[in-house]
Order: sequence, then C-alpha cells, then structure tokens
Amino acid sequence: MRKVILDCDPGHDDAVAILLAAGNPDIELLGLTTVGGNHTIDHVTRNAQQVLTVAGLSGVPIYRGASRPLLNDVVTATDIHGDTGMEIHGFTLPEPAVPVEEEHAVRWIVDTLMREEPGTVTLVPTGPLTNIALAARLEPRIVERVREVVLMGGAVGAGNVTASAEFNTFVDPEAAAIVFGENWPVVMVGLDLTHQALATPAVEARFASLGTACGDFVVGLFDAFRRNYKDAQGFENPPVHDPCAVAYVIDPTVVETVRVPVSVELAGTLTRGRTVADFRAAPGADCHTAVATRLDVDRFWDLVVDAVRALG
Ligand code: BDR
Ligand code: CA
Repeated sequence: MRKVILDCDPGHDDAVAILLAAGNPDIELLGLTTVGGNHTIDHVTRNAQQVLTVAGLSGVPIYRGASRPLLNDVVTATDIHGDTGMEIHGFTLPEPAVPVEEEHAVRWIVDTLMREEPGTVTLVPTGPLTNIALAARLEPRIVERVREVVLMGGAVGAGNVTASAEFNTFVDPEAAAIVFGENWPVVMVGLDLTHQALATPAVEARFASLGTACGDFVVGLFDAFRRNYKDAQGFENPPVHDPCAVAYVIDPTVVETVRVPVSVELAGTLTRGRTVADFRAAPGADCHTAVATRLDVDRFWDLVVDAVRALG
C-alpha cells in the first residue's frame, strides 16, 4: 500500500481525485490537506468535507491549510468550478458529517513525514503548491523523507490561465519554484497529460450505470464540469485533471513520463508561472524531475470506475 497525503483545493476534479485515492485498495490515504486555489480556503475545505460525507468516509482526517499564495493575491477559478468551488446544479450536497482537525495542514504534513518511515509517504498536490512549499521551509528534513511528489500542475505546451501558465502554478509560482527546486523526486502531471483524461459521454455513462451514491455524485461533477469547460475554454468534454496524479501513484505504467529538468518562471510579464522543461540535452544524473506525457486512457478510467464502485 502506498501512503499518500492528498493536498487539494476541491474542485470538481479534486473531488474525483479524492474518490480515487480513497477507493483504490493500493492507496492508504493518510489525510487530506486543503489549500486556497479553486476557491477560498473556507469553501474548498467545506467541499473536501462534503466529498468525504458523500462517500461515507469518516476515517480520513482533513487539515485546513494556507488561505493565500506566498506572494500573489488570491486567484480563484469560479468560471470552471462555480460559486462554491464545487458547484453542481440540481444536486444538493449533504451538510458535512466529518470534522476539520485543529492542527494546521502544514504542521501536520511535517509531523507526519517526520513520524512515518522515510521513503514511504508520497505527496500528491492537486492545487497551488503553497502548503508543500511552506512545509519544506518549515522543516527542510522532510525533503529527504518524502518518497516522491506527484503533482497536478504546470504545462510543457499551452497553459490554461494564460498562454504560458497552468492554473496551479500560475496561482502560486513562488511555491511552485520551491517545490520543483527541492531535491526530491517530482513528477509533473501537467496539462500535456491531463487534457487526455476527458470525461466523454461514454465515460460518464459508466459512472451512471453504477447506480450508487458516489457514481451519481461523479455524474453530477462531470455534468457541471462539462458545462463550465465548454463556456470557459471551448472544450466539448471536460479534462479531469487531478485524478491523473493519483493514477500515476497507483500504477506508474498508466502514465508515461520523461525525465527532464523543470524550472518555474517567476519574472516574465507574459510567462509568470510557466513550467520550463529543458529538453536540449539528455537529463543529467542529478535530474530529479519528470514530466507526464501520455495517458493510457482506458486503464485510467478503469481505475477511477473501480474506485468509485468500491465506495458504493
Ligand atoms: C487545475 O486547476 C484547477 O482548476 C483544477 O482543479 C486542476 O487542479 C487544472 O489547471
Ligand atoms: Ca485542483
């Protein structure tokens, strides 16, 4: 079993990432940490509580994290995620039946990594990288204790917030620079990969046919995501980004990667938040970053469907 800390900003696709991590038998989900991103920290934390409530999961603790990026002003994505950060028209989410822990997310990440066996815990950030950067600064020894950081963020090709930058790295570029700059293994599951994970009508039908609470929840998430992505970015079918990072942790053969040095642009007026991959030469032995390139789409959706089915 892979021990995972899922650092998220739910978020329709973060919600699917949570369900995949919670429902897959090869993952031990140690906890959820929340970070301001798709919406304010209050909204995304409540959304995380609601996802666990829908799934009937009472054993996964939630820790509230950073409310704003290190330097940037708060940027949210209500065009994609609606007025609550996880808005689903015609679907009433339950009142949270699970609590939020007292401890701050960053403190808990550090404590957990210092307590667990070195090399056993994988960090899976699916929002802006603020919490992870703060944790690395609060306790630098965590860097050598983490198994790997498998993050959804960045793009080698086109961005989605700007021509250059993907949302999570655009919102907190300084945090992204810290995370990519630390000497731990980083797998960047960026837009180049996640735009292959499209929730087509055929995919959605698989969840509808489950006939379960979680299956219906996913259908609601996809419907809302489809409408918003069509209006905001012209997609016919929405890209379901965040579970791709979880899928890599479950089975790295589902996601092809290539080792390449990656740096984050902090200064450019047009390019701030861009992840710059240097493909000029073969990566050196000290290269600790990799970029995801190709998704095995069928096996990816099989993993998600199986996890959602298991949750009931
Ligand atoms: C990323 O931005 C957010 O809106 C999604 O949840 C995902 O993590 C995609 O750019
Ligand atoms: Ca996210």
